[in-house]
Amino acid sequence: MKFDYIIGNPPYQDISKNSKGRKLYLFITEKMINKFNEEMIFLTPKQISNIKKKRFELSKLNNVKFIDFDVDKYFNVGVEIILFQLTNYKVDKIKIKENNNIYYSKLPLKKDEIIPTIMFNKIKDLGSKQEDKLFIGDVTSNGNEDENGKYKIIINYIKNKIRYTNVKPKLYKKKKVVIHMGKVYNENNFLISYDDYGQYQNMIDLTNYNEDDINNLKLFLFHPIVTNLVKKFRIFYGTGFNNIIYFFRKYNKNKLNNYIKNNKLDDFIIDYFKLNKEELNYLFSNDIKLKSKNIKDEKKNRSKETGEIFTPKELVNYMLDLIEYKWDKSKTFLDPTCGNGNILVEIAKRGEDPKNIFGVDLFEDNIIECKNRLKKIYLEHKYDIDYINKYLDKNIKVENALEFDYNFNQKLELF
Ligand SMILES: C[S@@+](CC[C@H](N)C(=O)[O-])C[C@H]1O[C@@H](n2cnc3c(N)ncnc32)[C@H](O)[C@@H]1O
Repeated sequence: MKFDYIIGNPPYQDISKNSKGRKLYLFITEKMINKFNEEMIFLTPKQISNIKKKRFELSKLNNVKFIDFDVDKYFNVGVEIILFQLTNYKVDKIKIKENNNIYYSKLPLKKDEIIPTIMFNKIKDLGSKQEDKLFIGDVTSNGNEDENGKYKIIINYIKNKIRYTNVKPKLYKKKKVVIHMGKVYNENNFLISYDDYGQYQNMIDLTNYNEDDINNLKLFLFHPIVTNLVKKFRIFYGTGFNNIIYFFRKYNKNKLNNYIKNNKLDDFIIDYFKLNKEELNYLFSNDIKLKSKNIKDEKKNRSKETGEIFTPKELVNYMLDLIEYKWDKSKTFLDPTCGNGNILVEIAKRGEDPKNIFGVDLFEDNIIECKNRLKKIYLEHKYDIDYINKYLDKNIKVENALEFDYNFNQKLELF
């Protein structure tokens, strides 16, 4: 069976206990891409944009558009999330929504339609221009090898797993700041530690830092301009912190302290990144809020077992607004991991007919709840109860998204 739109937020957990980091969302997304060639809008962890060789490289598909949206505004699930839209191959134009303006662009998008290239290059160059070395980059440590010639490191972001490496960890046993990859860029994820981390973590040497220096560093790193800069780059370049931290890796600590003392941090940052008015406007486009947020307060509990993080209503509607559709009951929708129906419910509220809405989830209680919610909406929309039940039974199923054939008992129609 074919669907016009596949919309989802697939589960983020590992595929099994021995999955070696292979995540379910990869398999589900890949299955959707391969099985159907319809328009897809998926909310997934950022890593998917950069999966090389092993499975597929989403960012290389020429009909993919990464949507610039402020994820912190909607929810925080402990992994970095991106939103992408895969348009049907027949479509050669893409709708871009920015600052409430909508315009169309041909596919594939050129880089400078996403972010001014000049700005990107300019910031990339910064590393070599500043004076002080703050970010360790190429600094080596004086750590000792163990009897096997290995160094112990702690991979903190994988549940404090201990690993051994042949390469001396950066800043071995030194006081440092670690900002973990895969986490939201904010003050809560700024960690001061003596532990040793893998080569791919970004660390700042705090050896000669007093408390004021550290506070000033935080003010700099998490200033709204810098935060927005990081967000924009992470959304579009999907390469984690390695590239981003590079922008700050050499700067003058004393200069920063002086600027802050004179209440001129904004000036310091604008000058450091050589930002002009247009670029500043760009950084603050798309609703990115000036005030920093306390993400901890917003953090939702996330079930590691089932990956049941349900998409907030506002974000679902944001996703639905991305598609060009008159909501005239002419199209079909599939959510392959529909949970208790947050996405399908919003589609139903927009007036879609029960026969056009399809959903699958692994868990029966989710499916029961999903059907009940849809039923309530359809009753409010004055659909006949038998008609509602017929299609809810046919279209909303307890199934494994990876194994299901997506036929939804269509054959029954023949008899
Ligand atoms: C991130 S939640 C999203 C739910 C819903 N689409 C939403 O946006 O609110 C992922 C859902 O996938 C379901 N799930 C996990 N593994 C699955 C599988 N193999 N097949 C189908 N659904 C699965 C979970 O039960 C969970 O409800």
